[in-house]
Amino acid sequence: MNKPARGSLLGIEPLEAKEILGLLKLARRMNPLKARPLLRGKRIVLLFYEPSTRTRTSFEIAAKSLGAITTLVQSSGSSIEKGESILDTGYTLRAIGADCIVMRHPSAGAPHLMAQHLDIPVINAGDGMHEHPSQALLDAVTILKHKKSFHGLHVAIIGDVLHSRVARSACHLLTKFGVKITLCGPPEFVPDVAATLVPGLRITRHLEDALRGTDVIMLLRVQTERLAGQKISLQDYIARYQMTPARLKLAKRDALVMHPGPIIRGLELTADVAESGQSVIVDEVRNGVPTRMAILARALGRAR
Ligand code: NCD
Repeated sequence: MNKPARGSLLGIEPLEAKEILGLLKLARRMNPLKARPLLRGKRIVLLFYEPSTRTRTSFEIAAKSLGAITTLVQSSGSSIEKGESILDTGYTLRAIGADCIVMRHPSAGAPHLMAQHLDIPVINAGDGMHEHPSQALLDAVTILKHKKSFHGLHVAIIGDVLHSRVARSACHLLTKFGVKITLCGPPEFVPDVAATLVPGLRITRHLEDALRGTDVIMLLRVQTERLAGQKISLQDYIARYQMTPARLKLAKRDALVMHPGPIIRGLELTADVAESGQSVIVDEVRNGVPTRMAILARALGRAR
């Protein structure tokens, strides 16, 4: 097993605060409309074993804005369907001339495996229930655009924390900067053990309790099939945890509403909340492009 190539981004957990700050600073300097061709001639493969809209297109637009060539490999329609292993797919892409692989996979650790066997940087675009580092970084960029600093911030993360790589990466990132985090949801989605992910996490089952005094409300996607056979029904979930205009008033007046997408109006939040002045959901998507430009420039050693 080898060390991942320099510039790989496999998760937030192993990063030091100063590396994160470096990426956030670089992301703020990236402008997709006035991009320099820092990655001209570089070949970036987007290897997606799971569906994606935001992450895939923003990595692609980020790469192309910097002058790179991109190609998309999805599990359907490729040799993955014929049973080719992750590593054999990786060796094939390397042989074709890939300089970097951006990879999403349903199994935790799949990008790490790839990174240990290839001599090119691998970027984790979401691995199972483990991490989604580029999402945490774009969320940090979004928070800092509105809140200026992480100092003294209180973030409530609401919904299916157990299955969420977004929540895991956000907890790792925000706690490195002293942000206070409250996880909120039913035990099916927020088991008590979730509090041990990083020291200092607080859990509550009551939305009202999570929202009071909160600066940032991070909603998570709820997959209805996860509720099958559970004690809590979809109707109960909506009744207890859906973000409504009345509940939003419990948070600070300038609290931000975030959601990694895809949102389901009428489930995690109402349409009024999604469209309210406090919602920065579209902003998160927009900030995904410069953030991923920074990640790719760092990956290919063109970060200056
Ligand atoms: C998330 C993902 O796929 O991890 N979406 C995204 O990348 N913006 C959230 C989710 O699907 O729950």
